[in-house]
Amino acid sequence: MQTFWYKNALVYSLDVETFMDSDGDGIGDFRGLTNCLDYLAGLGINCLWLLPFYPSPNRDNGYDVMDYYDVDPRLGTLGDFVEFIHQSRERGIRVLVDLVVNHTSIEHPWFQSARQGKTSKYHDYYVWSDNPEPNPALVAFPTVEESIWEYDEQAGASYLHHFYKEQPDLNIANPKVQEEILRIMGFWLELGVSGFRIDAAPFLIEEVGMENAHLFDLKQFLERMREFLANRSADAILLAEANVSPDQIPVYFDEGNRMQMLFNFLVNQNLFLALARQDAATLKEGLKILPSIPHNAQWLNFVRHHDELTLDRLSDEQQQEIFAAFAPEESMQIFGRGIRRRLPPMMQNDRRRIEMTYSLAFTLPGTPLVRYGDEIGMGDDLSLEGRESVRTVMQWSNAANGGFSKASPDALTRPVISKGEYGYQQVNVAFEQRDPTSFLNWMEHLIITRRQCPEFGSGKWRILETDKSAVFAHACEVDKTTVIALHNLSDQSCIVNLPEIPHQHLMEIFSDNFSLSRQQQKYDPLDENSYAIAINAYGYRWFRMSSMD
Ligand code: NOJ
Repeated sequence: MQTFWYKNALVYSLDVETFMDSDGDGIGDFRGLTNCLDYLAGLGINCLWLLPFYPSPNRDNGYDVMDYYDVDPRLGTLGDFVEFIHQSRERGIRVLVDLVVNHTSIEHPWFQSARQGKTSKYHDYYVWSDNPEPNPALVAFPTVEESIWEYDEQAGASYLHHFYKEQPDLNIANPKVQEEILRIMGFWLELGVSGFRIDAAPFLIEEVGMENAHLFDLKQFLERMREFLANRSADAILLAEANVSPDQIPVYFDEGNRMQMLFNFLVNQNLFLALARQDAATLKEGLKILPSIPHNAQWLNFVRHHDELTLDRLSDEQQQEIFAAFAPEESMQIFGRGIRRRLPPMMQNDRRRIEMTYSLAFTLPGTPLVRYGDEIGMGDDLSLEGRESVRTVMQWSNAANGGFSKASPDALTRPVISKGEYGYQQVNVAFEQRDPTSFLNWMEHLIITRRQCPEFGSGKWRILETDKSAVFAHACEVDKTTVIALHNLSDQSCIVNLPEIPHQHLMEIFSDNFSLSRQQQKYDPLDENSYAIAINAYGYRWFRMSSMD
């Protein structure tokens, strides 16, 4: 029997640089991370996604790689990496790493050679033009870059770059570049990783500027990657970052022979619109527009990650509604279409609403993602530039620097949040572990309960009709076992009718009553003769349904 481990995984993303510093130089490292694996295992995490940790000039937080075959010396050595993989495996934790091969750093030796001109054997590793079109619509970082082309004096031509100008795009149409990508994958697979997050996947298969691209179908390369992966490691996966329209999604899954997983950007954006409106309608629409996916494919559902909360799939008016609700000041917005905040500050630290949002994201069809610091309710630092606002160091305790590092505060790779309600003095792991009512203890409970409900990850799902537009209700079923979840997106409690579900079959497994953080209305036992279910303001209730046969 075939099982798909990633369908019931709990993925946790972190940046080694900001997680835990073991040697007091102010920079997180692999040894520090390895020392924290028991914490992560205790939380119920069974899959880590590491942001890029390769040597890099760090123009883009490591997404500008200088050497694909090494660890940034500030973070450790390959030896430290292998030990980390071993210790993770001992604890049943798989590791995914970022594969950033749409572009390299401008400082990568390939580019340094390529810019010397056509005689360089690396020249065609990149995309060059003598008469480029600026194509501002294709710029990934509007307001920072104006064009996707940059003139290079040395080369006497312009090179393509969808992201920062310090990130020249690789020419994926070049078979030699494809070979290089497979070689990089082979290297990290041999060191024990369980797969890759494919950075900027849509750009990998875009033909802009590539004269030879018509010679073959770039999309086929996704299949080659998958085939290579499967040959080297039977259960490794490819998780693509592809924020694309519904009609483009099949390109990535195809018939189950390309990517296994995709970030669920469509649902993420519609979820935030629903949260802003306190009405479930757009979330339902977001789910309904998803194409059906192959049996071995899966969505990765997230609330926030390390980038801006992008709203680019929504209309201008819809974006404004979300800004008004969650990021009303200009300093909270970025690129004209995104939000650079963590969730708790977006929700004025309203514990009820934050819990409901995570509970909802964890029950939506797919696999949930937690980002470091989410579990303790970390905030953001808007005084930092751009997306750095949500990338402050992990808060472990109320020791200096939040326990992240013994370095002097000005030597830290990024500041720790030290003031206000999100300051490390009260928002930290050690403090929250001792407090039974803490967000951390609640999150642990959420994770454990979610892992006990594989139906949410691999079941057939359907939206349940209710008579309250603020309440989102859905059911997920595997082999005749069904779980049902109700989420009230509004700040008003209500009684909701679920006409399809007879009460005598429902057993409650999780709800806002499980949160010890506050005195909320306790739910009465369900009335077997009615279809009505009470739900608190920003409440949530999960049920397991016994068979109706
Ligand atoms: C997506 C990454 O998540 C983001 O942080 C980065 O800037 C771009 N890809 C470019 O690599």
